Amino acid sequence: MLKNELLDKKIAEANLGGGKDKIESQHKKGKLTARERVHFLLDEGTFEEIGALVTHRSNDFGLDKQVFLGDGVVTGYGNINGRLVYVYAQDFTVFGGSLAEAHAQKITRLMDLAMQNGAPVIGLNDSGGARIQEGVVSLGGYADIFYRNTMASGVIPQLSAIMGPCAGGAVYSPAITDFILMVENTSYMFVTGPNVVKTVTHEKVSAEDLGGAVAHATKSGVTDFATANEMECIDSIKKLLSYIPQNCEEESPVIDYDGGDETREALATIIPNNPNQPYDIREVIEEVVDADSFFEVKKDWAENIVIGFSRLAGKSIGVVANQPANMAGVLDINSAKKAARFVRFCDAFNIPLLVFEDVPGFLPGTEQEWNAIISNGAKLLYAFCEATVPRVTVITRKAYGGAYDVMNSKHIGADMNFAWPTAEIAVMGAKGAAEIIFKKEIQGAKDPVKKLTEKEEEYKNKFANPYLAASRGYIDEVIKPEDTRRKLISAFNMLKNKVAKLPRKKHGNIPL
Ligand code: HXC
Repeated sequence: MLKNELLDKKIAEANLGGGKDKIESQHKKGKLTARERVHFLLDEGTFEEIGALVTHRSNDFGLDKQVFLGDGVVTGYGNINGRLVYVYAQDFTVFGGSLAEAHAQKITRLMDLAMQNGAPVIGLNDSGGARIQEGVVSLGGYADIFYRNTMASGVIPQLSAIMGPCAGGAVYSPAITDFILMVENTSYMFVTGPNVVKTVTHEKVSAEDLGGAVAHATKSGVTDFATANEMECIDSIKKLLSYIPQNCEEESPVIDYDGGDETREALATIIPNNPNQPYDIREVIEEVVDADSFFEVKKDWAENIVIGFSRLAGKSIGVVANQPANMAGVLDINSAKKAARFVRFCDAFNIPLLVFEDVPGFLPGTEQEWNAIISNGAKLLYAFCEATVPRVTVITRKAYGGAYDVMNSKHIGADMNFAWPTAEIAVMGAKGAAEIIFKKEIQGAKDPVKKLTEKEEEYKNKFANPYLAASRGYIDEVIKPEDTRRKLISAFNMLKNKVAKLPRKKHGNIPL
C-alpha cells in the first residue's frame, strides 16, 4: 500500500469511530456523533484534529482485540466566530465514550495547550464514565483532568456541554468548569444513578427526573443552561463565548456601536405606584442594555435573582439584579450562591458588573437559618467585596437592611451608585420600623391603627427615599429612570481604565 493510502485508510477508520452500526444507534437516540458536534460547533474548515491515531494500551478483558483509533474522544482546536478554542468531544460509539488512560491523556494534552496559549476549552461530554476494563488507570485519568480544571480556573474560560450520560465522579470535571449546558431528554448528570438510588434509599426515580437537564436547571441549579436539542446547545456555546474574553489577561470582544439617543422613556413607568407590587426586573434590564443583548444564565433556578451577560454600548457586562417578581426579590441561600459564582466569573475575566437593586432583605425562617443562610449569604457579600472590575449599582426601589450592604454598595467597593427617586434605602420597611420603634406610643394611643399609619408615614418621609443616602455620599447621584442608560454608558466609560489591587495574599477564604 502506498504511504499516503495507508494514512488515508487510517484517517477514514478514525473518522468512523465505533463503526457504522454504532453511529446509526447514536442517531436513533436523537444524538449527533462527536465529529458532527465538532463540525457544527466550529467555523467551517477550521478544525485541526490532534491525536486521531491514539489508541489504548490495555490487554485486559479482551481490550487487545478492541482497538479504536482515537480511543473514544475527538480532540483538537479551531475557531468559533474567528476566535481560537480547544475542543474535546467524547465519542459514545467507542466503548460508550468511556474514559481511560489514553482518552484522558488526549484531553489533558489539550488542556495544557489551552493554558499555554490562553484560549477557552470546550468539553462535549457523552460518556459511560470510567472505562471499567482499565480500572484504577481510568480514575487516575479523571483526576488528571480535575487537577487541570482547577489550575485553569480563572485563567481560561472552561465550558462543559453535557450531551449524553455523565455519571459518577465524572460529573466533577464539569462542576469545576465555568458553565454547564445540558440537552433536554438526552443528557443527564448524577453522582449515583437511579439503580443505586433505588437500592440505597428505595426511591424510584428515572434518569431524567434524577439528573436530566430540567432537573438541574430548576432544582439543583447545577446546569447554567437547559437546551431543547443539541443544535440549540451548540448555538448557546457560541453565544456565551461572544461575551467573554479568551483568557484572564484579555478583554471581551467589543461590538461596533454608533450611539444615538440614549434616553429610554419606557423606564419611567415600570415601577408600580404601590411599593409592594411586583414588576419584572428583566423589563428594566432589557430597556437599559443594548437591544437583544441580554443572555440570561441559570434562568429557571433561584429566580428571585436574575443574572446574565449583556452589552452596553457594544461592551460586555455582567448583570446581577434582584427580581421583585419572584419572592419580592428577597435574598436567600440559592440566590446568593447563584449570584456569587457569577460575580466571581465576571471578575476573573475582566467583565464589568452592573447591579440592579430592589431587595426587601434576607429571607427569614428556620429552613434558611438551618441550611446556613449566614454562610451562603456571605458568599455574595465576599464575592462583591473582592471584585476589582468596574462595578456600578442602580437602586430602583427597596434597598433594605443587610441586603443593602451586600448588593454592591459603595461601602464594599462599588465605583458608582445610582438611585432612582423611587428608591427606599433603609434598615427595614416603614411599617415594620414604625411597629418597633413606636411600639409604646402606638399601644397607648386611642386609635392604635391610626397612630401606626401616622408613624409609618413619618418614618417613610424620613428614610424611605434615596436622599439621606445621597446626602451621605453613599449614593453618587439620584437619577431619573429614563436617563439610566445614558448615565451607565458614561459611568462605565469613565471606569474603563480602573486599576484596583487586592492585598498580597495566597488566596482568600471565601465562606464555601
Ligand atoms: C466500558 C462501557 C462503559 C464503561 C458503557 N460502555 N459504559 N464500556 N466502560 N464505563 C459500553 C457498553 O459496554 C456498550 O458496549 C457501549 O458502551 C454502549 O453502552 P450501552 O449500555 O449499550 O448504552 P446505553 O444503553 O445507552 O447505556 C449507557 C450507560 C450504560 C447508561 C452509560 O452503558 C452504563 O450504565 N454504563 C456504565 C456506567 C458506569 O457504571 N460507569 C462507571 C461509573 S464509575 P457495546 O460493545 O456493548 O456496544 C465512574 C467513576 C469515575 O465513572 C470516577 C472519577 C473520579
